[in-house]
Amino acid sequence: MADIRTFDAPDELTTAAADLVLDAARAAVRDRKRFTWCLSGGNTPAMLYRKLASEPYAASFPWDRTYVFWGDERWVPADDPDSNARMARDELLSRVPLPQDHVRPIVTTGIEPEASAAAAERAVRTLLGPDLRPDLVLLGLGEDGHTASLFPGTAALGERTALYAANRVPRLDTWRITATLPLLNAARRIAFLVTGTAKARTLRQVLFPEAETVVLPASMVRPANGKLTWLLDREAASLLPHAG
Ligand code: 6PG
Repeated sequence: MADIRTFDAPDELTTAAADLVLDAARAAVRDRKRFTWCLSGGNTPAMLYRKLASEPYAASFPWDRTYVFWGDERWVPADDPDSNARMARDELLSRVPLPQDHVRPIVTTGIEPEASAAAAERAVRTLLGPDLRPDLVLLGLGEDGHTASLFPGTAALGERTALYAANRVPRLDTWRITATLPLLNAARRIAFLVTGTAKARTLRQVLFPEAETVVLPASMVRPANGKLTWLLDREAASLLPHAG
């Protein structure tokens, strides 16, 4: 059963998320001398990234032992306002002493989608080494049940070998480069960060699926040998069976 934690105030949630990342980082550095962290995109994690770039986290986090890569990227230039890498750079990576050569962005210019996915896979395989297990994967949840860029009904959901895929998303009429379930589910720890009333119905279907309902991509994220934590605000958790 997943570890589900609900928080009333936004800053409580952000602090709990920052503490979870810091704890994961400290454990990884203690056990393996480095912390490999798969970042999420979208808007929700911005508050977490800002919190980690501020005190007391900025001064106590093992930035020099931290390596980051992404769970997905939009098919836009790196300086595009929609770029996940740009958001993380603006809110965190440009504000903490994480070495630039510890960052593995997904390349989205001067390359075709399939080649970008292959390059991302090579970079992450090289980074993670033979055990291929990220120390922490941070994920969000879309209102349609997608996570990373694993959207319902898209080809990447079925990938069981490659670690990244170029995923055509008809609903958005765009390409996305996404980590696949084999990579996500290899993580030592996975944390979903979900806020807002708009996610409540989807979250209930993901966490407490009713019989014969469609299996949503986020429901397929189940670490084979790791810990799964859901960090929620009161609004996102409002339709869960034990909601207060
Ligand atoms: C992305 C993310 C995606 C995101 C969800 C939720 O590239 O958009 O990886 O999976 O986590 O769409 O996005 P919000 O946090 O903006 O609601």
